[in-house]
Amino acid sequence: MTQPGYDAVADLYSEALPTPYQTPLERHVVGAFADLVLERPLEGIVLDVGCGLGHVTADLAGRGLDVVGIDPSREMLGIARRNYPELRFVHDDAQLESTDLGGQGVAAVVARFSLIHLPPSDVPNVLAGWAARMAPGALVAVAGQTTDTVGEVSEFDHAVAQAWRWHPDRLSEALSEAGFEEVWRTISRPDAQHRFPEVHLVARRRYQV
Ligand SMILES: C[S@@+](CC[C@H](N)C(=O)[O-])C[C@H]1O[C@@H](n2cnc3c(N)ncnc32)[C@H](O)[C@@H]1O
Repeated sequence: MTQPGYDAVADLYSEALPTPYQTPLERHVVGAFADLVLERPLEGIVLDVGCGLGHVTADLAGRGLDVVGIDPSREMLGIARRNYPELRFVHDDAQLESTDLGGQGVAAVVARFSLIHLPPSDVPNVLAGWAARMAPGALVAVAGQTTDTVGEVSEFDHAVAQAWRWHPDRLSEALSEAGFEEVWRTISRPDAQHRFPEVHLVARRRYQV
């Protein structure tokens, strides 16, 4: 798999976004998610799906999670590996078809601003694939640009690669259909740096499907 859009801008991206988070809310949301994962630790690895430059992967590792970063862009991964040589990064995409976990399960998944790049028709299958690898109680956090229009999933003019905005309820429904129950969500409003509202949605693998 490839991600030519991100390959082309990786160096630029790295210069423009040298830190994991653009807002204090994002930092706290990821911290709250990590705390939730650590509250009831499960066997297995935490996957940072679409990890990009690895900054969030490193933040999660620093918070005590055993995390692997996964990304389809070799250029983004190359920078991630240079930035964080002590961490593990795998070339794969959200389908996780090439990710060898060495027999370990998936304890949690973080997918920030990466599922937005999947055609919406691919998302149910991807979420079901994660659910199949995760034990009951395991947590996912999905973040992306969103919309206030109820029911809407619509393509938007992302600067790097084709992308879609999901209304938070639609995202929650897709997670629910794959076997995850929403735990909480945050929405940030647009500002000078962000054209769209952004959602972070945390859900837990159901105990009974
Ligand atoms: C906006 S960056 C987000 C990076 C990081 N997750 C963060 O929070 O800063 C989006 C990343 O998603 C990756 N991506 C694009 N398509 C993907 C796919 N199908 N599966 C997984 N990741 C994908 C891109 O290569 C890119 O590194």
